[in-house]
Amino acid sequence: MIRREAVRVIQEERNGYTLQAGLPALRERVASDYPHLSLSTDQVIITAGSQEAMYLALLTLVETGDEVLIPNPGFVAYPTITQMAGGTPTFYRLPAANDFSFDLDDFKAQLTAQTKVVVCTSPSNPTGRTLTNEELRGMAQAIEASGSAAFVISDEIYRDLYFTGARPGSISEHYPRTIVISGLSKSTCMTGWRLGWILGDAAVLRACHLLHGYVTTCAATVSQKAALAAWSDEAVQARRQIRATFHERRDHLLASLRGAGMSCVTPEGAFYTMVDIRRYGSSIEVAEAMLETGVVTVPGNAFGSEGEGFLRVSFCADMPMLTEGVARMSAALKRNL
Ligand SMILES: Cc1ncc(COP(=O)(O)O)c(C=O)c1O
Repeated sequence: MIRREAVRVIQEERNGYTLQAGLPALRERVASDYPHLSLSTDQVIITAGSQEAMYLALLTLVETGDEVLIPNPGFVAYPTITQMAGGTPTFYRLPAANDFSFDLDDFKAQLTAQTKVVVCTSPSNPTGRTLTNEELRGMAQAIEASGSAAFVISDEIYRDLYFTGARPGSISEHYPRTIVISGLSKSTCMTGWRLGWILGDAAVLRACHLLHGYVTTCAATVSQKAALAAWSDEAVQARRQIRATFHERRDHLLASLRGAGMSCVTPEGAFYTMVDIRRYGSSIEVAEAMLETGVVTVPGNAFGSEGEGFLRVSFCADMPMLTEGVARMSAALKRNL
């Protein structure tokens, strides 16, 4: 129905620039998803995907030499954008030895007086693991106790793709200096529409607004207008269906991998698992062998040192494709490695 709305908007309406911050009605809908923050529309900016939102947040918050504490393993863009902002990436471990779950002691050990920003991603790319409310609270309390006054950037792009009973929590419920970035890319399978947002502290958002105006002017008008439909009952129902489909695919992929003798992480959200290939070689060698057999995976070390020895495998493909992929992986491991 979002597609239908986009077609109607293209055919029937003029689609010049919107306000730089985005359509007020869309910003109101986004704000309404975070009632505990009591946001005004000025505290929400619609961006060209959450990737632009991450860029705005880091360029606004980070001065030369500041540390940005990033999950290891974590999304590849974080260290690079940190460096683009003149910051220094530092890392907290989500230990492979503990199924990539949060390690509060290591997190505390990595916080310093120079930590300006902490990046929190739940559910995670690449592991699909989520942080429990207790872990989010522990993270918030550790930052408060460190005296660093760091901001948290909470990357919630996968928050609507979960396979547990309840939607995963947001650290913004526990830590006031949180800037949230998110969007429609993953929850509604709209990656190419470039529709994201950033919200939080009024002064930070004012600076982000200025930067956004010069970088992008505004997010694509057609995408913004169509996105208004993402809060309708029909779209909420469609998201529920997408979640159910991914849940089925996840269970199918995990059963297939384990049935073929491979060990892998049970993700609580997103659409990835990490497959342990340590006994076959390095991540890059095994990923290349998989590529030769027609299966695209991502070597785990691309996400940080903690991902070495793993492959990130996505379950975006349908079930027959997943079955075929696992069969090829299994044959390649037996044959080549
Ligand atoms: C953790 C994470 N954050 C952000 C993004 C960027 O998504 P988009 O710019 O499409 O919102 C991705 C995309 O893969 C991601 O995995």
